Amino acid sequence: MSRGRIIQRGSEAVLYLDGEDTLVKERVKKGYRIPQLDETIRKQRTKREVRLLDRARRAGVPVPAATVADTYLIRMDYVNGRRLKDVLNGMGRKEQDRMAEKIGGIAAALHSSNIIHGDITTSNMILKGDVLHIIDFGLGKVSEKVEDKATDLFLLREALLSAHFEISERIWKNIINIYVQQYSKAREVLARFERIERRRRYK
Ligand SMILES: Nc1ncnc2c1ncn2[C@@H]1O[C@H](COP(=O)(O)OP(=O)(O)O)[C@@H](O)[C@H]1O
Ligand SMILES: [Mg+2]
Repeated sequence: MSRGRIIQRGSEAVLYLDGEDTLVKERVKKGYRIPQLDETIRKQRTKREVRLLDRARRAGVPVPAATVADTYLIRMDYVNGRRLKDVLNGMGRKEQDRMAEKIGGIAAALHSSNIIHGDITTSNMILKGDVLHIIDFGLGKVSEKVEDKATDLFLLREALLSAHFEISERIWKNIINIYVQQYSKAREVLARFERIERRRRYK
């Protein structure tokens, strides 16, 4: 099967660019896992990722269109832009705040559709033109649980603190502002979020 040339080695996948606008994500063997379990995990994450990308797209979230091409292989649209992680710190304030609003909008839309991303970080967001896309749903799931949504936000908060420390307070405020405006159950999730934070802090 044609895969194209390697453009990235992620933590658990190799990414190939096939032609100009198709990306192939292949989940590769992890030597530290028992082989049987490794296969199960890779198969499951591949299927799950495509299913969630599809669900996210139907929820109006900008994601690449994707299909399962083989057991461990996804073909998806290549989003030819910049990783938000690499460009956010260098932006002007206004633009940073606009990004924060987009992130808040993405979180609100995902959670309104009961999609838990599982790894919401700026490494998994790609800015192309004025559209912020989100990728990498392999650790995600569908869940209505407040706890799962709060955990999703907690991971986002941690990611901001580690990659964008200087601006993280302002960015976070803007994210939450939009999240509350656009997601009807946001208050409940945020209350839980605060409990999680306290739990971690006093551990
Ligand atoms: N559809 C896509 N378009 C453009 N770049 C992508 C796409 N999918 C993945 N990438 C790039 O490959 C990297 C790794 O892919 P990702 O799905 O996040 O896998 P991992 O699970 O290894 O983090 C991303 O951070 C991004 O830079
Ligand atoms: Mg990733």
